Amino acid sequence: MDRHIKIFDTTLRDGEQAPGCSMNLEEKLEVARQLELLKVDVIEAGFAISSPGDFNSVKAIAEHIKDCTVASLARAVQKDIDAAYEAIKGAVSPRIHAFLATSPVHMKHKLKMTPDEVLQKVVYAVKYAKSLCGDVEFSAEDAMRSDREFLARVVEAAISAGATTINIPDTVGYVIPEEVFDMITYLKNTVPNIDKADLSVHCHNDLGMAVANSIAGIRAGVTQIECTVNGLGERAGNAALEEIVMAIKTRRELLGCRTRIDTRQINRTSKLVYSIIGQMPAINKPIIGANAFAHESGIHQHGVLAERTTYEIMSPEEVGIKKNKLVLGKHSGKHAILDRLKELGYNLEAGEFDRFYEKFKALCDKKKIITDSDLEALVYNKERIDSHYRLEFFDVHTMKNASSTCVIRLRKQDEVFEEVSLGDGPINAAYNAIDKITDNICEELSHYNIHSVSDGTDALGEVTVRMRSGDHVVTGRGLSTDIIESSILAYVNGINKLLAL
Ligand code: KIV
Ligand code: ZN
Repeated sequence: MDRHIKIFDTTLRDGEQAPGCSMNLEEKLEVARQLELLKVDVIEAGFAISSPGDFNSVKAIAEHIKDCTVASLARAVQKDIDAAYEAIKGAVSPRIHAFLATSPVHMKHKLKMTPDEVLQKVVYAVKYAKSLCGDVEFSAEDAMRSDREFLARVVEAAISAGATTINIPDTVGYVIPEEVFDMITYLKNTVPNIDKADLSVHCHNDLGMAVANSIAGIRAGVTQIECTVNGLGERAGNAALEEIVMAIKTRRELLGCRTRIDTRQINRTSKLVYSIIGQMPAINKPIIGANAFAHESGIHQHGVLAERTTYEIMSPEEVGIKKNKLVLGKHSGKHAILDRLKELGYNLEAGEFDRFYEKFKALCDKKKIITDSDLEALVYNKERIDSHYRLEFFDVHTMKNASSTCVIRLRKQDEVFEEVSLGDGPINAAYNAIDKITDNICEELSHYNIHSVSDGTDALGEVTVRMRSGDHVVTGRGLSTDIIESSILAYVNGINKLLAL
């Protein structure tokens, strides 16, 4: 029998901690629902004590998600554990995830505690968490740089105190696969009660080894892997969920294990997360990059046509990438569109489909052929917050060697605001006019990115902007066949998000 590997997804906690990856409550809920469709075993929904916003999103996710365990992170202190439990207690399957560092450098310089004090604190925290919740995970932060004899004592004590999962993180992405294998093997051979808990690894990617290290953990016998969609996470990120899952699936015979992930949801999950944070994968990113299944060279194309497995170790369909059989356009009926959306994995509810259909029709007036990428871009392009401002009208004038001008009209419920502004180029002029209307709520525009959703001069252009107001950073998105309009829409979307905070 193949061993079951639990997939613990921490996109909404470790992933979201990365600069520019923050999400609002609606966005987190949407990602959590998609993770449930993907069938991850555990969703780490956030770090409940860290902010009221985090607390509320962990709580909302705990209340909505039925088919996955929902976890909240907590430091090994009572107030964190209380907040974590308050936030997750409504879940069908709640988990408290407590952590404390065990490496010499962390204990000495960050915690300023002796190893014995750390050990006592771990026991206290796990026992306290266990008094609230049956499912308790303990993570020994920076475990891979810890003294292994001390780590073994901590692990044994945490299990005796009631931990049901023990996580061994490579917090700084320092180790190589052999070391992970040795560490897990050592713990399995040394800790007497190790069989009473799931053993897990959590690998960061600073040396580009997070996925290989996770697989080494599996080889040594762990039963849980912690990872994030698209490998999101601080610095170089965490181990990428899609890569680990497809490695387990593709090398099933060698690894002798399986996950319960519905791999056909991978493409959709990846796109959703990228669209929310306003990023794109590198074209050669494994599994989800645009070139991951492209065969350019003649020899490869010939080989794949003769026999797919000559150059393809997995099929695009397995990860939810469908070959387009149907061309959609303005004469396509609602059924054809609904069918195609379903084939792509999108089951839109009635109201959602009506809004989608409006946008589809509007796009057909500008673009003859609607591709799958266009459809997906339209699905993701929705306001996930109540809009304060809506774009009503704009008029830009631009020419070489002169300032551009832009007139903007925005509506906020029954009020209409109009401003005109100069700028260094049409987008700068438009943004200056919007700043006048919105009292400069955006203090800094730190990132502007435009990409074409499909090919051709009539392609949809998607703009993402990162904007800051005080300590808050949001990502705004806009989509249109007119890149000035998508730039304005992205900025207005970002303003609405800042106002919603
Ligand atoms: O990287 C790490 O050590 C963590 C823990 C809090 C699990 O994210
Ligand atoms: Zn981490």
